[in-house]
Amino acid sequence: MELMDVLGSRRAVRDYTPMPVERPTIEHLIHAATLAPSAMNLQPWAFAVLTGQNRIDQLAGRIKSWLLANFSDTMYGPSIRGMIEDPKYTLLHHAPALVMVLAKSQEAQAVEDCCLAAENLMLAARDEGLGSCWVGFARPWINLPEIKKELGLPQNYHVVAPIVLGYPLAWPKSHGRSAPEIQWLG
Ligand SMILES: Cc1cc2nc3c(=O)[nH]c(=O)nc-3n(C[C@H](O)[C@H](O)[C@H](O)COP(=O)(O)O)c2cc1C
Repeated sequence: MELMDVLGSRRAVRDYTPMPVERPTIEHLIHAATLAPSAMNLQPWAFAVLTGQNRIDQLAGRIKSWLLANFSDTMYGPSIRGMIEDPKYTLLHHAPALVMVLAKSQEAQAVEDCCLAAENLMLAARDEGLGSCWVGFARPWINLPEIKKELGLPQNYHVVAPIVLGYPLAWPKSHGRSAPEIQWLG
């Protein structure tokens, strides 16, 4: 696809077919992620991949329970609580794959670098006909020391971007974008 078509048609996808995302495809997306720029070219990222709709659904259930039990410790407001409480709300959207972009270092700009890698990954997914959704709600739970231990993630790595992936049941319509505020200085 042309770059602007990819940029304009990537959507946060929350309905997936059960079709698995094959390992070479995920490796291709991760390669695209690593083409992102990074401060001083430190490339402070790593990637963790979990596949299987059932495993991902199980995690989603645990994240949801944890979030609701610890809601007052989060920065989210009451409307978010209402959304998550809905029994139909599945936190990882029944996706068949989850790729996490992890910051490997405490470098000042490691998080920014990982965000750029995450965007590359989501755009490359769109180019492959795959939907993606960055699920920020999953981040606090996955970063708990006991969960990192259980999943086999190094304790000193920090999950920046949990991104679910899969083949979309349909491409959602865009919610649109506001006109940018531009301050022309001089
Ligand atoms: C940092 C970040 C966190 C997000 N967290 C969630 C989330 O927890 N759950 C979810 O369903 N979507 C999440 N999204 C997706 C956004 O809601 C979505 O990108 C936005 O509504 C714009 O829609 P579009 O991506 O289709 O253009 C997140 C996106 C970003 C960039």
